[in-house]
Amino acid sequence: MHQTLAELPQSPGSLHIVYTSQLAPGQDYTAYGRICRVARQRNGPLAVSGVLLFDGQRFCQWLHGEPTSTAALMQTIASDRRHTDVQVHLQTSLPSDAFPSGWRAGFVDSDTLDQFVQQPPHGADRVMAALGRLLAAADVGPAVSQGMTGRAMQSRGCSSA
Ligand SMILES: Cc1cc2nc3c(=O)[nH]c(=O)nc-3n(C[C@H](O)[C@H](O)[C@H](O)COP(=O)(O)O)c2cc1C
Repeated sequence: MHQTLAELPQSPGSLHIVYTSQLAPGQDYTAYGRICRVARQRNGPLAVSGVLLFDGQRFCQWLHGEPTSTAALMQTIASDRRHTDVQVHLQTSLPSDAFPSGWRAGFVDSDTLDQFVQQPPHGADRVMAALGRLLAAADVGPAVSQGMTGRAMQSRGCSSA
């Protein structure tokens, strides 16, 4: 079962949220560019890092950072009418220094995202491992995908294979 926004953890540390969503009817791919511009400007000052993937129809976003800011940003994003069917796959506190900081965006092919959406992994380690594979297949640059699939995942005891 997916976690809900009402179940946001209150523990200190770095809050990680992974969700998928669907481009809303009437929106087109140009929304992605506008969202990326705003996110690039705003996430840094909020101390929120992460990646926003898009396949032309669906989004997959990993947000992580200062818990209060990250939770508040997620609430804003969840109520954004440019997307629907927001499914939160992970909300948990993880060590903040084990993951690359900064904000990235990139395209992912539909087949790869299909696997994630249609068979969503359960449990923090499985979600993060699946996310690592998704990032490795996406166009987000080696720093992020290697950071997820290499040292960071090993430090979580996660398998990216
Ligand atoms: C899929 C998706 C991802 C988004 N990601 C971010 C993000 O990472 N950072 C951000 O500031 N806004 C993001 N937004 C936009 C926010 O929902 C919101 O429009 C923006 O933060 C401006 O908020 P405001 O109208 O309260 O000022 C995203 C929107 C969508 C639809």
